[in-house]
Amino acid sequence: MKELTITKQIQTEEDKQNQEILKNSGEIPLHIAIIMDGNGRWAKNKGSIRLHGHKVGVDSVRDITESCAQLGVKYLTLYAFSTENWGRPSTEVRGLMKLLVSSLRKEAENLNKNDIRLSTIGQLDRFPQSCQTELKEAIELTKDNNRLELCLALSYSGRWDITEAVKKIATHVKEGRLDPELINDQMIGDHLSTADVPDPDLIIRTSGEYRISNFLLWQLAYSELYITETYWPDFRRDELYEAIRSYQGRDRRFGKISISEDEKAGSSRLVNKKS
Ligand code: FPP
Repeated sequence: MKELTITKQIQTEEDKQNQEILKNSGEIPLHIAIIMDGNGRWAKNKGSIRLHGHKVGVDSVRDITESCAQLGVKYLTLYAFSTENWGRPSTEVRGLMKLLVSSLRKEAENLNKNDIRLSTIGQLDRFPQSCQTELKEAIELTKDNNRLELCLALSYSGRWDITEAVKKIATHVKEGRLDPELINDQMIGDHLSTADVPDPDLIIRTSGEYRISNFLLWQLAYSELYITETYWPDFRRDELYEAIRSYQGRDRRFGKISISEDEKAGSSRLVNKKS
């Protein structure tokens, strides 16, 4: 398989070994979702402006995307701009938009070379035309790639996503095409913006905040949580490996009992225990 060079740095032998150890020590999550937080505080600690934190945050995006692709993660969803972020000072919002456009310009070709498919979820039509055009071009350029899907959540919120799904389903009912009795969680999932993507296995939040902040509310029902004190601009691959190691040590029961307990209890006994 060809070498990945998103960071334009040669992968060290030590990093290759670390990745091999991780791959051999358990399951690599199929889908990782990340709440990238702490750019502003990181910048403040350095005596710098918030935008500097966002700029260095883009280096973390690159490093994490590259290492996820190398590890065999298939979906990486990044909370890049929430619906609530529109309420930030206009200078910061404009700065973030510019950064998005310049990053896409710089990185689209690299994503393509590395077989990474770019996608988005959220209300893209709220973004300036320049962002929309840049995003559409990068999405079109990378649409046939298969190694990893990098999904940017932009002007996204979990409540918005669920509300839109409910509107679509209600329309089917109103038009007499759907019996409300047939509505189930599979159907709701199929009407969300993430319909084609499996639910995240692991959600990471940086900067030590213990909340979901209106991210993938429906999709996170059984995701494993990893929260670190590290601010996003300092979150690089070694800490990603730490998060995956933590994930590999979890006992994912999905509301049932663990397989080993199940075996102990005998296969004839029914499973009915809350996780
Ligand atoms: C949270 O830190 C971060 C954001 C709201 C924006 C994240 C954006 C980037 C990393 C750069 C652009 C992304 C791409 C994909 C090109 P914060 O500002 O809330 O930090 P604070 O909580 O310390 O104030």
